[in-house]
Amino acid sequence: MLRPNRRQVIAGLGGIAAVGAGTTIDLRADTAAPVQLRSRLTSYSFDRPETSGLVSLADNGPPPVLRMQQHQEAAFDLVNGLDDYTTMHWHGIRLPNNMDGVPYLTQFPIAQNETYSYRFASSDAGTFWYHPHCMTMTQMARGLTGVLIVEEEEDPGFDQEIILNLKDFRIGDDGSLLDFFTPRGAARSGTTGNLRTVNWQITPRYTANAGSLVRLRIAVTDTTRIYKLVLPDIDGHVIAWNGHPVAEPMPMPSAETPFWLSPGERVDIALRLPDGEGIEIPIDTMIGRTAYPVCSLITHGTSEQRSLSDLKPLRPNPVAEPDLETAEMHEFLFGWSPEGDGSNNGFCGSYDYIFWSINRNPWLGDAEPGTGPLAELKLGKSYILRLRNESPNQHPIHLHGLVFKPIRSNMRRLPANYTDTVLLLKDEVIDIALVADNPGDWAFHCHVIEHQKTGLAGYIRVTG
Ligand code: C2O
Ligand code: CU
Ligand code: CU
Repeated sequence: MLRPNRRQVIAGLGGIAAVGAGTTIDLRADTAAPVQLRSRLTSYSFDRPETSGLVSLADNGPPPVLRMQQHQEAAFDLVNGLDDYTTMHWHGIRLPNNMDGVPYLTQFPIAQNETYSYRFASSDAGTFWYHPHCMTMTQMARGLTGVLIVEEEEDPGFDQEIILNLKDFRIGDDGSLLDFFTPRGAARSGTTGNLRTVNWQITPRYTANAGSLVRLRIAVTDTTRIYKLVLPDIDGHVIAWNGHPVAEPMPMPSAETPFWLSPGERVDIALRLPDGEGIEIPIDTMIGRTAYPVCSLITHGTSEQRSLSDLKPLRPNPVAEPDLETAEMHEFLFGWSPEGDGSNNGFCGSYDYIFWSINRNPWLGDAEPGTGPLAELKLGKSYILRLRNESPNQHPIHLHGLVFKPIRSNMRRLPANYTDTVLLLKDEVIDIALVADNPGDWAFHCHVIEHQKTGLAGYIRVTG
């Protein structure tokens, strides 16, 4: 006998239920009018006295989840309500260069009370995120990191979505903000926070129906921390990584195979929750050999009796397949800065230290004249970029405007799934392949923001 399941009932009410990550701004409801987003100072209480000096697009809480529809234009008017410069970057979205939000490279910084109009459609559906790219450390560390969801044209059929925006804060016992940046951290693996949060909450619990199909969308929006996610033994699979449906399977996060998710990265996981009321599903992260709780899901109600096979597989995004036969190779060396470079112009939050470089060229600041591209690629051609880490630290390497796939590593087998970010291990060499099919100057940097802001940044030019 057919009976409407919970998803259909909710869908009848205008969309599937989503929890987590504060409020949602749904552009699918009305694509005509631009949505005004205003960055602002705000305060919020974690588990200690109130913290002021936080930055969000909302009052007293995390930046909203933004939802748009694949192939439909979204219009955001970003108003800078801060007394410092800003820009907004839409991490992972392949958009026109002047919408990419990189100061001096793709737009001028937005001054206090000024507005910049961001307009773009995304050909890719998936889990993305947004953050400022000017005063990046200051504004991200104060909270301005949000999830951006591009809905598939065809609904895959989940009952519920749970969005986990993972981010540290550095806050003293009295609620005051601690230094975001330490020279010691910047020269090594970065400065981690002392308060791990999920959607600005500490180890929250999310309720979901027993026996239902849940889509977890997990985004690491922290400036530093690499998560090593562990889930209990539960029915499910990884369906997308960094915004793109996985073509090569990736193992479910487990104690044997924790899922590494570095700053800037996302993973989408389909779960079939167990039957039975009140079953807790903990999600943990490994720090050293110890598992620490991130959050948990709790089952509720009588079983929905769903099955993972009810889900429609995600369609691949329209990514051009690189031609490895004709691909030209470019090499990039990620390492220490040459001796002696210690100045930085301070524009858009650059620091007074330089520790890192790409091909021995440290990025000296966002408006430094005469800083040329690291590589010039021809529009429509295929390339292999060889990424070589000569440092003892790990670097999540991120490229704007284009997507690539890892094709080999000197250390491990990497699934060849399309991505915008790849974690480069100590001494690792990874070859990535791409088609240079989006013209413009595309930022290319480590997503440990202290590394990015102390030299480990640059850009790649694609021209017709
Ligand atoms: Cu998440 Cu250059 O950005
Ligand atoms: Cu980006
Ligand atoms: Cu780095």
